[in-house]
Amino acid sequence: MRAAILFFLFSASAPGAFAVTPFLNEPDTGFNDGAVPTGQLPTLNSIKAIPDFEAVARHFMNVSDYAYYRTGAAGEFAYRRSLEIFSQVKLRPRTLIDVTNISLNTTIFGHKFTAPFFIAPAARAGLTHPRAELNLAEAAGAENILYAPSLSATKKIEEIAAVAVPGQVMFHQLYVSRNKTKLASDVKRIEAAGFKGIFVTVDNPVHGVRTRESRYGWPSTTDSDPEFTWESYQALRNMTSLPVIPKGIQSVEDALLAIKHGAPGIYLSNHGARQLDTSQSPLEVAIEIHENAPEVFSETFVFADGGVRYGTDILKLLALGVKAVGLGRPFMYSNVFGREGVQYLIDLLKEELTVDASNLGVADLKQLDTKWLNLGRLLAFVYRLDTA
Ligand SMILES: Cc1cc2nc3c(=O)[nH]c(=O)nc-3n(C[C@H](O)[C@H](O)[C@H](O)COP(=O)(O)O)c2cc1C
Ligand SMILES: *[C@@H]1O[C@H](CO)[C@@H](O)[C@H](O)[C@H]1NC(C)=O
Ligand SMILES: *[C@@H]1O[C@H](CO)[C@@H](O)[C@H](O)[C@H]1NC(C)=O
Ligand SMILES: *[C@@H]1O[C@H](CO)[C@@H](O)[C@H](O)[C@H]1NC(C)=O
Ligand SMILES: *[C@@H]1O[C@H](CO)[C@@H](O)[C@H](O)[C@H]1NC(C)=O
Ligand SMILES: *[C@@H]1O[C@H](CO)[C@@H](O)[C@H](O)[C@H]1NC(C)=O
Repeated sequence: MRAAILFFLFSASAPGAFAVTPFLNEPDTGFNDGAVPTGQLPTLNSIKAIPDFEAVARHFMNVSDYAYYRTGAAGEFAYRRSLEIFSQVKLRPRTLIDVTNISLNTTIFGHKFTAPFFIAPAARAGLTHPRAELNLAEAAGAENILYAPSLSATKKIEEIAAVAVPGQVMFHQLYVSRNKTKLASDVKRIEAAGFKGIFVTVDNPVHGVRTRESRYGWPSTTDSDPEFTWESYQALRNMTSLPVIPKGIQSVEDALLAIKHGAPGIYLSNHGARQLDTSQSPLEVAIEIHENAPEVFSETFVFADGGVRYGTDILKLLALGVKAVGLGRPFMYSNVFGREGVQYLIDLLKEELTVDASNLGVADLKQLDTKWLNLGRLLAFVYRLDTA
């Protein structure tokens, strides 16, 4: 009997017995490759879910430009995990709750927005649309959600600021240049252009091992400063009156150090898994902080991004204590349709989030905490400070 089973497992008659799960960019929900004409755009209303934008962009952009957006670091295991990990956290819906008036309204650093999600900073929006970041800024303004352009944007800091609608609040991402004159000038320009906060990226002392993008000759160097430390962070804060939020926090230790150094907020991210392969997904970092030092979520304002593609992904991060959730690639892909595409994504995600919150039985997003989650096996793998 046992020999028979072994024979079955190892024989050619059981192909796929040991096959790994195929790697999916997006799940098969009917909008698959055949549905997207190469080099053309389908109608916007054929998009029914956020991952559909990836399929569209993959067929619309040329291979080189798509590879730049899509790349993760090295074998892209961290990229894959950032998408798949959300399915390992189970939701625990409550029933018989009046969910008629769910509001997504959120306050970020005292500024009012209509959703707890935002457009994360991503370089080179010009690869999909000639108006590049202007579309992202305008869509964010029309919908009143937060957008933070990248310092490596296609458009200039001042050009992006110029399309803001009255009262629109944007933050700006900052790479720390080794050239101190440039760094001072970048900070001054961001402040002068009217941005209300700075995400300083701390997860890239050097550019990651980005195999996929390197095949198309994308430059492998970023103007970032490998000497940047907490002391340099303090010096940077002294250069501006804007809140300076470290983006790329990936451990409970660094979350605590950020608070110790007076950071007004922290941003959990592994740079869309583009920097260090097999780094923990930001969802796992949020769980690590929740298990070891839950006070972090009340002592400082926590942003997070990485692999967020569904309303339920956002609910899970909010339940852990994250206050605002970013999306990078999906917004970049949506820009193949221009501003209208970006706005369509925002509406779709607002709708999904409202439907998901309703079915979870959350009448008010502020009630979300970990009682709404079953973290299951993930808890067994949490890094513990006390046994370290
Ligand atoms: C094409 C691309 C360019 C990016 N450029 C930057 C950047 O200039 N600065 C930065 O801090 N993060 C950058 N990121 C990381 C994003 O801010 C964000 O952390 C990441 O995209 C989130 O993961 P997601 O794409 O799965 O949503 C970039 C990401 C992508 C996909
Ligand atoms: C929802 O809003 C309506 C109209 O403002 C109000 O009458 C109702 O009491 C609200 N329900 C809940 C559960 O807050
Ligand atoms: C949410 O904010 C908008 C303005 O941005 C406002 O019109 C609306 O009444 C708010 N909704 C609730 C339930 O507070
Ligand atoms: C892809 O398009 C860009 C313009 O966005 C162009 O510069 C580049 O040469 C093209 N690459 C390929 C491989 O066609
Ligand atoms: C440093 O940056 C300034 C301002 O952008 C620029 O004028 C100068 O040429 C740069 N210096 C070096 C050595 O690159
Ligand atoms: C920042 O400014 C404070 C107060 O002016 C000062 O005490 C501190 O030494 C400065 N830090 C750095 C690193 O420049």
